[in-house]
Amino acid sequence: SAAEKDGHDWFMRKEIHEQPRAVADSLLGRRTPEGRLHLDEMRLSDQELRDVDKVIIIACGTSFYAGMVAKYAIEHWTRVPVEVELASEFRYRDPILDYSTLVVAISQSGETADTLQAIRHARTQRSKVLAICNTNGSTIPRESDAVIYTHAGPEIGVASTKGFLTQLVACYLLALYLAQVKGTRYGDEIDEVMRQLEAMPDHIATVLASADAIYAMAAEHVDTRSVLFLGRHAGYPVALEGALKLKELAYIHAEGFAAGELKHGPIALVESGLPVLCVVPPAGRDQLRDKMVSGIQEVRARGARTICLVEDGDDAITPYADTVIRLPKVPVLLQPLVAVVPLQLFACELATRMGHDVDQPRNLAKSVTVE
Ligand code: G6P
Repeated sequence: SAAEKDGHDWFMRKEIHEQPRAVADSLLGRRTPEGRLHLDEMRLSDQELRDVDKVIIIACGTSFYAGMVAKYAIEHWTRVPVEVELASEFRYRDPILDYSTLVVAISQSGETADTLQAIRHARTQRSKVLAICNTNGSTIPRESDAVIYTHAGPEIGVASTKGFLTQLVACYLLALYLAQVKGTRYGDEIDEVMRQLEAMPDHIATVLASADAIYAMAAEHVDTRSVLFLGRHAGYPVALEGALKLKELAYIHAEGFAAGELKHGPIALVESGLPVLCVVPPAGRDQLRDKMVSGIQEVRARGARTICLVEDGDDAITPYADTVIRLPKVPVLLQPLVAVVPLQLFACELATRMGHDVDQPRNLAKSVTVE
């Protein structure tokens, strides 16, 4: 009923709008009065975590893209090498694991069969397994050595939204916690990053407040058959997630690419009128940002219609953007928390206008319990 959906047409739209709260809840109670990070369900000792010399993140679907962001954050803050792998690939390739490998399984439902089989395998190899999960008492956290619960609340829409944002939060917390335990130089910045994280719910609310502009853009794309998404660095997984949302909900062809790969293939797809959605890195990261700008110029010169997600106040892009979507100013590693939101709104609205069932897209299941 409409009441269950808070007056929204879909659970998914409701869940998108719950994201400021979900992110705030997932940050709640993580900091001691002395400014130390504290994770209550972290059952691994400081010594066990100090011994970790490699992290392997495994997940499926949207959770896998959270893992890609986690790699950037963990490596940056801890200097521990991180691999990210699809659970279904990890399980059957004979991965190199031992007691000093920390395997991080990210799963909203905690029941995804591929991810479950992957952690079972990791434990037979004596690796420690930490689950990032939204569902209390589900199988994956029960079979793991430690868990960080996200506090998104129940997610009903099949396509993950608030689940994803809260997974990102848990990944940042894990990265900072490892930095604290290992005593890396970023250990001193934990307080500052936590403050930046605590400001994110307001930033996400700012993005949601301009939903109407995104909906208007979606209205212009109801006849679109194909969309490309480009991103770099932490914006790359955002591009992949934006494309996945369009496939899941609107059933249209959508591909996400690392913008640097454009010239190695994807640019051949560009033809007149093709929408290309570009996640532009924050202006503080000028090298990244400038490379992105040249990618945008390249596709535009070949007739693409560029839709650019750009940090507020960054006007270097505007001459090359057919549509500009403004994002709040946030650090580059945290940008996925705001950048993915317009893409969720876009996919939800486009699918609605195309007459699709947004909450239960054809052929998909909320939790895939078969391999
Ligand atoms: C299904 C859902 C996706 C989800 C994926 C992984 O495909 O439709 O939204 O991202 O499973 O689910 P998990 O519960 O393991 O995060």
